[in-house]
Amino acid sequence: MKILMAASEAFPYAKNGGLADMVSALSLALAKQGHEIRMVLPRYYVINRAELKLEALEGPMGVPAGGTEEWSEVCTGLLPGSPPENPVRVYFIDHENFFGRDGIYGVPAEPDFLDNPRRFTFFCRAVFQLCKKLNWYPDVLHAHDWPGALIPVFLKFEERQKKFAKTVSALTIHNLGYQGIYGKENFYHTGLGWDVFYNGGFEDWNMMNLLKAGICSADILNTVSPNYARETQTSAYGCRLDGILRDRAADYRGILNGIDTEIWNPQNDPAIPMPYSAQDMTGKARAKELLQQEFGLPPSPDTPVIGFISRLVGQKGVGELFGPAYGSAYPICRDMNLQFVVLGTGEAWCENEIRSLAGKLSNFKAKITHNEALSHLIEAGSDFFLMPSRYEPSGLNQMYSLAYGTIPIVRNTGGLADTVENFDPQTGGGTGFMFDDLTPQAIYNTVAWAVGAYHNRRPQIEAMRKRGMEKDFSWDNSAKKYIEMYEDALKKIRK
Ligand code: ADP
Ligand code: GLC
Repeated sequence: MKILMAASEAFPYAKNGGLADMVSALSLALAKQGHEIRMVLPRYYVINRAELKLEALEGPMGVPAGGTEEWSEVCTGLLPGSPPENPVRVYFIDHENFFGRDGIYGVPAEPDFLDNPRRFTFFCRAVFQLCKKLNWYPDVLHAHDWPGALIPVFLKFEERQKKFAKTVSALTIHNLGYQGIYGKENFYHTGLGWDVFYNGGFEDWNMMNLLKAGICSADILNTVSPNYARETQTSAYGCRLDGILRDRAADYRGILNGIDTEIWNPQNDPAIPMPYSAQDMTGKARAKELLQQEFGLPPSPDTPVIGFISRLVGQKGVGELFGPAYGSAYPICRDMNLQFVVLGTGEAWCENEIRSLAGKLSNFKAKITHNEALSHLIEAGSDFFLMPSRYEPSGLNQMYSLAYGTIPIVRNTGGLADTVENFDPQTGGGTGFMFDDLTPQAIYNTVAWAVGAYHNRRPQIEAMRKRGMEKDFSWDNSAKKYIEMYEDALKKIRK
């Protein structure tokens, strides 16, 4: 199958969260299964053309942009980690005005660039122009989240009638909390008629909702875990789109993310001091030592370390964890014999609160930055990994944790519920510690439960670690499910 993956993030080029990991890992897994995979993303400023030795395609590319035309360059390279016999080619849409600046979606002073609707409308249009330029028409255009949501729309309302008669669109929803809602004056940039604004699902309380339009137009839809697919069809988790998702239920499914086991593997990870496996955990103890050193914590093999790596936003339960005066992190560190390490960036109040906690508590340390290598060391060196998410479409960190023998402490929601099994004190079974209520008290109690087990039920804890490490979260299975999904969509248009 010929598949073009169009996304606003992809590891290692530009990463904000799990979307980047998912897009590249899925592409590689599909290529390994023999499919022809190409990727396209904006050439952000951080993507260094010279360093990455990107080649420029000949000639500029014209992109229709609301009554006028914008010009873009295209450069290209191969995705690192590609199978040599079937490499994944990546195209970068280079437009100085839209993408030649710091930040993917924004910068701290302007978290959502005012011209984002215009930037990503341009990107989605450019995807079609790229195929025409290459004279390469994929079977599947696979778009991701609101920045890619216009791709299904352009296909349905314009391009299928032209050169893309045999192409279907697939839209993956990674996070229903971000829908791309903008003033409807921005609709102008799409170049579509106002009939499409109303019939194509854009209209949202007199605003323009890009994800909603994508959901209405895509030939097939999915989200990144079966449980989140169910949850999003309820009003509690649907972020106002549950009705539309129920309406499209026949074309909507949940496919659990995998993890890239080449990059996230304690047996072969350049970011940790010594490789380890379920058979020999010496390397994990070394990683813990180094982690304590990196964060300026006293070396102490028998003090449990709780790791937390996250975008610092409400979705991740940071209010319940770090909220001033009511968050659970303070009493947890005050009352319990443990060490707590945090790596993250995000909302300013939360970054400040974390800094202030670090000033008050000697066993709480934080780095407010984005650091890929350190995230590996935290996964390896921690005993527990905390994810008290309000909602979690899939979640990758709990799977990285399991692979590294680090026991997840998670809220029973979304993909967390699909990947972690709760500890059973009777049998010693399970792979993690889970709670239902998103309250500071529930987080506190569950951390206390885990830390209590660490101090008093060590053999059960060690057995849990091993059980987690033996789980198979590789992409092979899920990649097959994506192929089935593409095939189902193709059946619809190629009867
Ligand atoms: P989400 O995509 O909602 O942020 P996921 O669990 O799917 O959540 O993926 C988050 C990814 O981003 C993980 O790979 C995690 O390690 C990484 N990450 C988040 N914040 C940081 C940070 N400050 N430094 C390094 N990696 C980070
Ligand atoms: C989103 C979700 C996260 C998921 C990731 C990759 O950012 O919040 O749960 O793992 O996308 O699909």
